This record gives sequence, C-alpha cells and structure tokens, in this order.
Amino acid sequence: MNTINQDKTLSSIPLHNEKDFQGMRKAGSLAAKILDTLYNLIKPGISTEEINYHCHKMIISNHAVPAPLNYRGFPKSVCTSVNHVVCHGIPSKEKILNEGDIINVDVTVIVDGWHGDSSRMYCAGKINPKAKKLVETTYKSLMKSIAILKPGIHLGDIGFIIQNYAESKNFSVVRDFCGHGLGKVFHCAPSVLHFGEKNEGIKLEEGMFFTIEPMINAGNWAVKILNDGWTAVTKDKSLSAQFEHSVGITKNGAEIFTLSQNGTDLPINIL
Ligand code: MF3
Ligand code: CO
Ligand code: CO
Repeated sequence: MNTINQDKTLSSIPLHNEKDFQGMRKAGSLAAKILDTLYNLIKPGISTEEINYHCHKMIISNHAVPAPLNYRGFPKSVCTSVNHVVCHGIPSKEKILNEGDIINVDVTVIVDGWHGDSSRMYCAGKINPKAKKLVETTYKSLMKSIAILKPGIHLGDIGFIIQNYAESKNFSVVRDFCGHGLGKVFHCAPSVLHFGEKNEGIKLEEGMFFTIEPMINAGNWAVKILNDGWTAVTKDKSLSAQFEHSVGITKNGAEIFTLSQNGTDLPINIL
C-alpha cells in the first residue's frame, strides 16, 4: 500500500476500458484463487515461509509474477502479518504460527501486465472473541465501503464509512498506510484513505481501478516500522487486522476483481 505522505491524489488517475477490466479480472481471480487455498493450509505449526513458498509456487505455475518479490527490495513473494503486525510482514522459517494467532496474507500477482492485489485474515486454530470481533469488523468495514462505490461519490466517503464503522466497535483505523490505484502498475493515484469525511476528495469516475485495504487496530492506531525496514507493528502491541480487494468503478457501481471463488472470503462464519 501507499504511505499517505506519498499522496498522489493530485496526479492524474488513469481511466480504463472494457479490455482493461478483462485484464484485471484475470489477475484478480488468480490472487483470489491463491488466497482460497490458504484457508485449509494455515494452522498452528506452519511457518510464514511455508505460506510464502506455497503462494510463490502457485503464482509461478500459473505463469504469473509475484509483484512484491524485489519490489523496492522486499525479499519475498507475499506479505505475512501476524497478530500485532499491521502490514508488510516478511515471511520467515523462524516465524511459526501458534494456536490463536491471526495472520494477514497479502498476495499481488501480475498477469499479462495487470496487477491483482488482495489480502485476507486467517486464524491458526481457535481464536479468542476479541480477535474474532476485530477480524469481522475489519472485513465488514471493507465490504461496507465497497457497497457505496459508484461514479460521483467522493473518495472521502470511503474513508468515512470505514472509520465510522471501526470506531463504533471501539477499534481504531491505521493512518500511515492507504489503498492505491493499480492496473498496469502496482501503486498509483489515487491514494485511498481509510478514514476521512464525507464529500471530501476527488469524485470517482467509471474506469478507475484501486484497492481498499483497511488496517484496523484493537488498541491505538499508531504504528512503527521495525529495523528490517518493512514490518509495520502497532506501537502499543495491540492486535491488528486487514482485508484488501482490488475494484473497478463501473457505470452504476463497482466490480470486485478479487472475490473468493470458494466462499472463504472470511475465515469465520459471521452469519
Ligand atoms: N500488497 C501490498 C499492498 O497492498 C504491497 C506490498 S509491497 C511489499 O499494496 F513490498 F511489501 F511487498
Ligand atoms: Co494494495
Ligand atoms: Co496488497
């Protein structure tokens, strides 16, 4: 995701045609298919490197490219962010999941030049009620914001709905990272903040592609980056959760390019 001080809202936002939508559909559905396989793979005892290896193999065997690998020096093919890690966790052999851990896996694949970027939370074994509430709230905040998408709404409407919902559950919204435009490039305009005010920011137009990827903390929203230069953690060590979809604005709404194909969008049955 972008950091908000690289704000790109003033630079021009690419608008895409039907052929471009087809490209994003293909990339997005591969990202989703990979995330779909993790539902049964992730359990206590697995290392985050094994998760990375599984995703990497699947990306390569589908003739796609893992966008994070060597991106600005990132050393792995996916990000794995466990418990108080907010985002950009680096997979490693040493990091082994324990019963009760929650983990975000963020997959970005490049297919025919198009980027499909999506992340979900997974649970290692049984998680506690507070963690469950955090995961559900984060997922619902993303889906509520996607539900309002259509040409003419403002970028700020997205942040407003996410912030309002997360704070109504006594959680906080991370400020330091945001969603981003994508397509033939990994990160471009617009920056999609997950907090804000109604009617602020640019108006959405048909053909815009971007991600929404709220990071919600159980405690305070403040984060810090570890010495590896990547891993973002909550300053107060509280749990953090994130979900991400890549979307395209259509004539009357939005298309989600990264929907699950096996009903495992959420690791928990919330209905
Ligand atoms: N997939 C992340 C995003 O949502 C970006 C990861 S970049 C990396 O934008 F270098 F950390 F992998
Ligand atoms: Co992203
Ligand atoms: Co991502």
